[in-house]
Amino acid sequence: MRVRRALASDLDALVALELRSFDGDRLSRAQYRRHLDSDSALVLVAGANHHRLLGSAVLFFRKGSALARLYSLATAPEARGQGVGSALLVAADAAVRRRGCRALKLEVRTDNDAAIRLYERHGFRRAGRYAHYYEDGADAWRYARSLD
Ligand SMILES: CC(C)(COP(=O)(O)OP(=O)(O)OC[C@H]1O[C@@H](n2cnc3c(N)ncnc32)[C@H](O)[C@@H]1OP(=O)(O)O)[C@@H](O)C(=O)NCCC(=O)NCCS
Repeated sequence: MRVRRALASDLDALVALELRSFDGDRLSRAQYRRHLDSDSALVLVAGANHHRLLGSAVLFFRKGSALARLYSLATAPEARGQGVGSALLVAADAAVRRRGCRALKLEVRTDNDAAIRLYERHGFRRAGRYAHYYEDGADAWRYARSLD
């Protein structure tokens, strides 16, 4: 498995993975296209080969800010539990450090046990709660991780 920066040619696969991974609050095709071409975003993909996308991560950066945001993390349903999410988090960490950021934050549904376990194993600490954060009214935990 290899993690790399996503290319414009990954757009179809990214949109398909988004549809299979999230019931709501999805990134649209237009948003992905914009993020692929933006300095303030980084889209990473994990794949076994060029044709099969196993997972993706979307990172956002703000000019002048040392805090990066992991906006999205998804593993194809048939590839879960095999370390794809972990590999994407390790790659995200390295990319964020390369950009000179010193911390990474994220939000996760309070009922998303698999994601919460993964983030906590990777050193993220709970930093707050947002009520009614998602389209369906679900709450989010805020997590953050210092990269120092
Ligand atoms: C959350 C999500 C990204 C996790 O991805 P994943 O690829 O399954 O994550 P990993 O495989 O790295 O880790 C998950 C589990 O597999 C286990 N695992 C890791 N490597 C493994 C391997 N080689 N073989 C077997 N199991 C393994 C891990 O120990 C972990 O177990 P635990 O969390 O029960 O302790 C995935 O479930 C997903 O896409 N969910 C839907 C979208 C979503 O909710 N995204 C998060 C939004 S905030």
